[in-house]
Amino acid sequence: MRTQELRDKFLSFYRERNHKEIPSSSLVPENDPTTLFTGSGMQPLLPFLLGRPHPQGKRVTDSQKCFRAEDIEEVGDNRHTTFFEMLGNWSFGDYFKQEQLPWIFEFLTKSQEEGGANLDPHRLYVTVFAGDSMTGIPADEESISIWKKLFTDKGIEAKYVALESNEKGNELGMQGGRIFSYDVRKNWWSRAGVPAKMPAGEPGGPDSEVFYDFQTPHDQKFGKECHPNCDCGRFLEIGNSVFMEYIKKEDGSFERLAQRNVDFGGGLERIAAAINDDPDVFNIDIFDEVKKSLEVSTEKKYEDYKREFRIILDHIRAAVFILADGVVPSNTGRGYVLRRLIRRAVRFADKLEAKDLRVTNVAKKFTLHRSLLTDVAETFIKIYKNYDLVKQSNAIVPELEKEEKKFRTTLVSGIKEFEARAKDGKITGQDAFDLYQSYGFPWELTEEMAKDRGISVDREAFEEEFKKHRELSRTASAGVFKGGLADRSAETTRLHTAHHLLLKALQMVLGPEVKQRGSNITAERLRMDFSYVNKMTEEQKKEVERIVNEKISEDLPVIRSEMPKEEAEKLGAEREFGQKYPDTVSVYSIGPKDAVPDDPKFSEAFSIEFCGGPHVGRTGEIGRFEIVKEEAVAAGIRRIKARVS
Ligand code: ALA
Repeated sequence: MRTQELRDKFLSFYRERNHKEIPSSSLVPENDPTTLFTGSGMQPLLPFLLGRPHPQGKRVTDSQKCFRAEDIEEVGDNRHTTFFEMLGNWSFGDYFKQEQLPWIFEFLTKSQEEGGANLDPHRLYVTVFAGDSMTGIPADEESISIWKKLFTDKGIEAKYVALESNEKGNELGMQGGRIFSYDVRKNWWSRAGVPAKMPAGEPGGPDSEVFYDFQTPHDQKFGKECHPNCDCGRFLEIGNSVFMEYIKKEDGSFERLAQRNVDFGGGLERIAAAINDDPDVFNIDIFDEVKKSLEVSTEKKYEDYKREFRIILDHIRAAVFILADGVVPSNTGRGYVLRRLIRRAVRFADKLEAKDLRVTNVAKKFTLHRSLLTDVAETFIKIYKNYDLVKQSNAIVPELEKEEKKFRTTLVSGIKEFEARAKDGKITGQDAFDLYQSYGFPWELTEEMAKDRGISVDREAFEEEFKKHRELSRTASAGVFKGGLADRSAETTRLHTAHHLLLKALQMVLGPEVKQRGSNITAERLRMDFSYVNKMTEEQKKEVERIVNEKISEDLPVIRSEMPKEEAEKLGAEREFGQKYPDTVSVYSIGPKDAVPDDPKFSEAFSIEFCGGPHVGRTGEIGRFEIVKEEAVAAGIRRIKARVS
């Protein structure tokens, strides 16, 4: 089955069970200030898990684009990718375990003709929550009995084995089990990880995971015995049903959320690999065409150069999707992660001695020399029809080419410089810094090249000089869902409303063509990237500040409305670049003074934006607004940092 077909089958399975299909949100999280990228399906849906009614109702299904920067270094083995799609089905206070587990089992095991994934149930193993004495949250007995029945009904013995931890798993092994319990480290899900790491106000809950058994021999490097959560590669997690019913309180204890939710996340590529019964995720059809053309142009076989091929495939696919969501390569934040992906792919293409492609235009009788990576990107753009990347290819391909060119102008001399400096068997912090400054080598590249050659790097000095960059990179890596928490504090909320006022003020001062191209809001400051070619003058900055402060002093009401997307478009509501919106959207309008939720008076509003919140009730709550910095981040993109006091 083709991967695209698998996605369609999943979505239609849940549509048939009264779920509304919603589009994937952008990889650039909206209103989630502490994460750089969307790394799981639940991130964009947080408000609805916390109780806000979803405009599409209590059951939705989607395939969410995800990117996990923390996995960059892992790419190269048979299963890690930075970009992936997470299939999701959601119950916002509607059905729970009794429906969720039978449904997902049905989908995974049903024949393809009947709309399922046709996996052999004998090859599926499941895990459940073992309970936790710290929080007093009990073991998930209900899921154990549901799974028992599901397997028994298929004539499969369903022995339950309490493993509790990976260590115990590696000691005790399978013991003929089908259902296994693990502690909070494996069977509890929240964006922050285990309960102890969750901040107050964060939702989470026990989960139940499904693993596919590739029946590959156990590798004792990973422990004496194998078990579902063993890392040897025999088992692959293909789906996770999170029973999100708890919230952490200020005093550190847990209470039940007002509603019980289901957050299911299934790895599209991983389920496709299970259907292939091949543990190599890069052998699914999505990568076929690109792999073939890489083999032709490098005259090398995937089988012989798996790591290099996988890094190119993964990184360029991720770069295409990140560029499509409006991020451009730069030295900070998301742009830095993107730069790293592209530069790493360039380096691995060079390792394969990839030649530029010659494309002969028969009609016009000329030959073009094209970069291999451009070709890879264009193939992905063509393959992912459902994301309509073709429309954005004019933004994607030139940026990719530009970044490759930029890197190439210094790569050869940079490598020479590296070799020269590495002659004495080490790379000092200063060496690494110089390579960064003069040749644009991200520090990870220098570190990696040193590792490849078995040369030591003076880490301490390296880190001290690179402190700033390291911090950026760390934010980038941790900025995926595990470390990142949506901060919905009062400070961040005030800055978020100020952000809306700022966009409108910029359009008034610089022109209506100014569009938001990225945003990041923490409790300390807001940051907005916007399209504009010139540096702002002092007068323009002052004028923008004046307008924002004027709107704050007018104490305008901030009103949330829900409406069909077309209606919001007609109102001219600002939308996020590259973001796809569902049919019913949430819109925030600011002003006029006498607007009320029942009569928002859009025609007189100061600002209207597609937005999920949260916001202050009235602009008077914001405080005094001040621009701290205005700078360029990329060609045609400026950045403002501002705070309120
Ligand atoms: N939120 C769950 C995960 O990302 C489904 O694994």
